[in-house]
Amino acid sequence: MEFSSDLGKLQRLMASSIAGISRRQAILETLMISPGDQIIDIGCGGGHLLEHLAKAAGGQGHIYGLDPSKDQVAQARARCSEFENVTLLNSYADEISLEQNSCNSVTSTQTFEYIENIDAALTETTRVLVPGGAFVNISILWDHFKFFGAEEKLNDRIHDAFRAHCSHQMLPMELPGKLNQLGYRDIRNKSLAFLITHRDQNSPARYIEETISLFALKQGVSKSHVEDWRGQLTKAEKEGRFGFTSFPVLTSAFLNL
Ligand SMILES: C[S@@+](CC[C@H](N)C(=O)[O-])C[C@H]1O[C@@H](n2cnc3c(N)ncnc32)[C@H](O)[C@@H]1O
Repeated sequence: MEFSSDLGKLQRLMASSIAGISRRQAILETLMISPGDQIIDIGCGGGHLLEHLAKAAGGQGHIYGLDPSKDQVAQARARCSEFENVTLLNSYADEISLEQNSCNSVTSTQTFEYIENIDAALTETTRVLVPGGAFVNISILWDHFKFFGAEEKLNDRIHDAFRAHCSHQMLPMELPGKLNQLGYRDIRNKSLAFLITHRDQNSPARYIEETISLFALKQGVSKSHVEDWRGQLTKAEKEGRFGFTSFPVLTSAFLNL
């Protein structure tokens, strides 16, 4: 999926919502950053996590945000303009312009599942990590990313169209094996699953509904079907039977010494 223009804007709104905030909190709690650390955020998007990492690592530390989207990098640069210890890298995860063993930690949120050749990206990410360094990733179990309240057949059609948006639908299930192969230890998965039953102004469900609708239209679902689906969700919400579930998983590991 391309994170430029309309979809990029929706993604950044998502990152600013409670769903994005709670993920960043989980990452910061797991990373246990020390002043002076060097950390890279793979697929940094609009840079929401970078500013927290920059404060935690302080002036002696350095934070790298990597993203192939020029739009996202421009947004991240603007967000982090007051931090001298942040550098943006406009590239893909399988080509990181940093020395081997240059980062104390690597982190990534909802990015590796979009990378078709994930093994190359994980190998390259591991190359820049110091032995003993921490890897912290959040990816979604997309089979559990689901709206409730619309008529079942139409709901399935919209969700089926959205499956094409990402290469690895159930990455948290595959990641421990891949990390083990790359020489990581203490590999742990933690559920960050949540349920939403409302679509107020800053509800993640609102931005996700918009994103799925745009994507379904691009996949050839008719405008009338998408409008029907959204109308049915609105009706369900009014009647108190609307829901949205998502199942992000935080995977943490340490590279063998
Ligand atoms: C869903 S967004 C997540 C952004 C950010 N991590 C957050 O949580 O707000 C996914 C990001 O991954 C980036 N991305 C896509 N393919 C990538 C690749 N091969 N290497 C690195 N980043 C990639 C996109 O440009 C996008 O900014």
